[in-house]
Amino acid sequence: MFETKHPYRVQLTESGQLKHFITTEGLPRELLTEILDTADSFVDMGAQQVKKVPLLRGRTVANLFFENSTRTLSTFELAAKRLSADVLNLNIATSSTKKGETLKDTLMTLAAMQSDMFVVRHSDSGAAHFIASEVTPGVAIINAGDGRHAHPTQAMLDMLTIRRHKGDFTQLRIAVVGDVLHSRVARSQLHALRTLGVAEVRVIAPRTLLPRDVENFGVKVYQDLTEGLRDVDVVMTLRLQRERMTSALLPSESEYFKLYGITDDRLAYAHPEAIVMHPGPINRGVEISSAVADGKRSVILDQVTNGIAVRMAVMSMAMSGQQAERQARADAEAAAAAEQGAEQGAANEA
Ligand code: CP
Repeated sequence: MFETKHPYRVQLTESGQLKHFITTEGLPRELLTEILDTADSFVDMGAQQVKKVPLLRGRTVANLFFENSTRTLSTFELAAKRLSADVLNLNIATSSTKKGETLKDTLMTLAAMQSDMFVVRHSDSGAAHFIASEVTPGVAIINAGDGRHAHPTQAMLDMLTIRRHKGDFTQLRIAVVGDVLHSRVARSQLHALRTLGVAEVRVIAPRTLLPRDVENFGVKVYQDLTEGLRDVDVVMTLRLQRERMTSALLPSESEYFKLYGITDDRLAYAHPEAIVMHPGPINRGVEISSAVADGKRSVILDQVTNGIAVRMAVMSMAMSGQQAERQARADAEAAAAAEQGAEQGAANEA
């Protein structure tokens, strides 16, 4: 676990522009809406023959994934390329990390190669905050998932998918189902859902898979799946995070599926037009049946597609924020130098 000085504020410039994207927690509704609106403008571009804009031309983006990934790494790479950036994917398995190089030294080395942005996935909660606040000034840091803490671009692609399918957040009843305790996705989703003004957010899980402070997220908690699903517009399923469980929290996966797996029978309790989401990777027959995952209410592959647009939005906004901050610093330095020159001139005349 890394310690940082200003975990939420560090991602914004003095004037409130995004310059890093570390967490959805603490960000204002206007900024989350700006991310969604910007992403919306990129979604249609994906269907065009030429899928490129020059917003990051001449910039270098380094993808640093210290944990495995399929969706996030691939869509960040595609997003950066569609923004015309040069992209470096560091292969951690064959990197000098394996010879004992620290995270800080790896990042300083890549910063010395004039990287403009690091996209970082790390198993330690707080890694992205630490890098943004302590390690590499001037490089935009995008959190691609840190420990149990946050996965903000996943949450925002989920929000975009909900908005494109269901419209106004304030009219929706949404259920998050499953392993909230170990899920960085759930934490980022719950902050975003609350900030965007969703009418009712429910969490459905066994007690052993809920954080002790879950009610602080402003959610209704259910242990019974069918009760919790009643009349919801959106079902957001979570993966069982076996790799983060340090003790036996479940009798078995088949028992979990019996009680909490999303099947067509269970889905019948939700609103007839409810959509079903899952961040992936899916454990079929554990969190969700294949019939539901591949069925007509599933928007799981839309989530993947929308991930490219959201990542394009976040990367272009963070780069603008970094540029604005550099400009503000240069202006302040020029003003200070002019003031000093004027004072010196006055002193010389006297
Ligand atoms: N949803 C998600 O983060 O998937 P990956 O681990 O495949 O990136």
